[in-house]
Amino acid sequence: MKTRVFSGMQPSGNLHIGNYLGALKNWVRIQHDYECIFCIVDLHAITLYQDPAELRAKIEEIAALYIAAGIDPKVCSIMVQSAVPAHAELAWMLTCVTPVGWLERMTQYKMKAAKQESVGDGILQYPVLMAADILLYQAGIVPVGEDQAQHLELTRDIAQRFNSLYGDTFVVPGTSLPAVGARIMGLDDPTQKMSKSATGANHSVALLDPIDKIRKTIMRATTDSHPAVDVETAGAGVLNLLSIYQAFSNASDEELKQRFTGMRYGDFKKQVAEMVISHIEPFQRRYREITAEPGYLAGVLREGAERVAPIANATVRTVKDRMGLYT
Ligand code: AMP
Ligand code: TRP
Repeated sequence: MKTRVFSGMQPSGNLHIGNYLGALKNWVRIQHDYECIFCIVDLHAITLYQDPAELRAKIEEIAALYIAAGIDPKVCSIMVQSAVPAHAELAWMLTCVTPVGWLERMTQYKMKAAKQESVGDGILQYPVLMAADILLYQAGIVPVGEDQAQHLELTRDIAQRFNSLYGDTFVVPGTSLPAVGARIMGLDDPTQKMSKSATGANHSVALLDPIDKIRKTIMRATTDSHPAVDVETAGAGVLNLLSIYQAFSNASDEELKQRFTGMRYGDFKKQVAEMVISHIEPFQRRYREITAEPGYLAGVLREGAERVAPIANATVRTVKDRMGLYT
């Protein structure tokens, strides 16, 4: 049997090149080597308020972007988390074996909580639901960006704790990070991770941004006070642009050095922009085709849920049985 892969993205905000380079690009690369499930995690999105109509539209937008970026729905299962009730069901059972201290230590929890006056319980529970997503399918590999590495360590801790309390039940999953692009930084501020929720006009390049806007955003990206590229001494902004170029082009460190050393920043940024656009433009073309076909995405998502639900339901049955719950 092929090892199973599970990963997901939240249908909130706009997918950007950080999401693509940190996760989606890796999914596309490995989709033929494993049995892959790619999820749209709407139950995670509602840990912060989402406008219902916008959320519903976003779910299909994300599914379309997965496919536009190269995920083949005939090879992989693309599904929506809330369409398979077992995710929420297992999350509760895992909540009951998770010490609250483990959750309070999560960096993302601390960052999100610090921004709010009243912290919703969902923000704290978020990584338990994520563990449920993964453990439900006995996934062996979870390809994500670096910001999710801590949540995956917690997933392993929860799996191990459950296994030791109730007997071997869950596969303990491994984390797969891309060699380049695991943490893309904001173009306006290279000390901050590129994020869907940041508001700055020049912060990110979204996969559906107009091509002109992408060019402008990259040309305006923060660099440093050197006049030209020097890979050895470059500051965070230039390093971020180099990573973006390298991740899109798959160029080696040596190729990167030869191409850009001594190049003035304006010319360098132009090349980065054109490299990014050469990948994103075909995504946008495919996105328009996919969304123009009535009923296509709904069909893909229905099929995906139907394919994975039996796996999820079987895990929940086993877990209930192990815990002495009523099946
Ligand atoms: P999210 O936007 O939180 O739904 O994240 C979806 C996926 O994109 C996860 O695997 C994240 O680790 C990844 N990701 C998000 N932001 C970045 C970033 N700035 N650089 C690299 N990967 C990212
Ligand atoms: N928390 C992840 C993020 O924001 C999304 C996610 C939810 C996920 N469930 C998952 C990623 C399971 C990998 C596996 O990026």
